[in-house]
Amino acid sequence: MIIIRAARFDDAEALPAIEQSAGEAFRAIADLAWLAEGDNVSVERHRQLIAEGACWVAADGQDRPVGFLSAGIEGDTLHIWELDVRLDRQGSGIGRALLERATGDARRRGLAAVTLTTFRAVAWNAPFYRKFGFRVLEDPGIDERLASLLGDEAEHGMPLDQRCAMQLDLSREDTR
Ligand SMILES: CC(C)(COP(=O)(O)OP(=O)(O)OC[C@H]1O[C@@H](n2cnc3c(N)ncnc32)[C@H](O)[C@@H]1OP(=O)(O)O)[C@@H](O)C(=O)NCCC(=O)NCCS
Repeated sequence: MIIIRAARFDDAEALPAIEQSAGEAFRAIADLAWLAEGDNVSVERHRQLIAEGACWVAADGQDRPVGFLSAGIEGDTLHIWELDVRLDRQGSGIGRALLERATGDARRRGLAAVTLTTFRAVAWNAPFYRKFGFRVLEDPGIDERLASLLGDEAEHGMPLDQRCAMQLDLSREDTR
């Protein structure tokens, strides 16, 4: 049994190991296998994001996190920083459930959009988000904030031509 709940402060210590395990999925892609060796978000940063109130975990029957989505509110937008599901739990609907919880929360808060950056061609990245209505923002549709995030990623070794920014526009949804 998996429950999606708001992350608690004491969940933070479990999250880097989940990110590490989730990243193992990239070993299946020769060009991107190095991502499985990359640094994870620190416990301290997770605590900070949890305190901001836009982080959720997928918890198992013992209330142990097996996946998480961490996000933050940037103006009128919910920006997703990380979405990770432990490798042995992938492919069973947990990622979808976390994303639905986060987008539902953004709607309840009356936010205009949900954004993120991801890989264009990795099956569980842009194509996954597209199924939820996210669309890739191409230049000049990318605002300064997202352009700067893509720039930072490139500085940290990410192949810029394979990355993209995506947005789910909530402002045009029918709320009747
Ligand atoms: C992305 C991620 C969180 C998805 O979580 P998940 O629990 O495995 O996803 P779900 O079981 O809810 O699957 C939802 C959709 O994701 C896609 N998907 C997930 N894993 C996939 C895989 N290995 N290959 C192809 N598509 C995949 C499918 O489109 C699936 O939709 P479908 O069920 O209609 O076919 C998970 O794969 C993960 O942690 N990946 C590594 C880290 C990562 O890339 N995070 C996203 C960074 S932007």
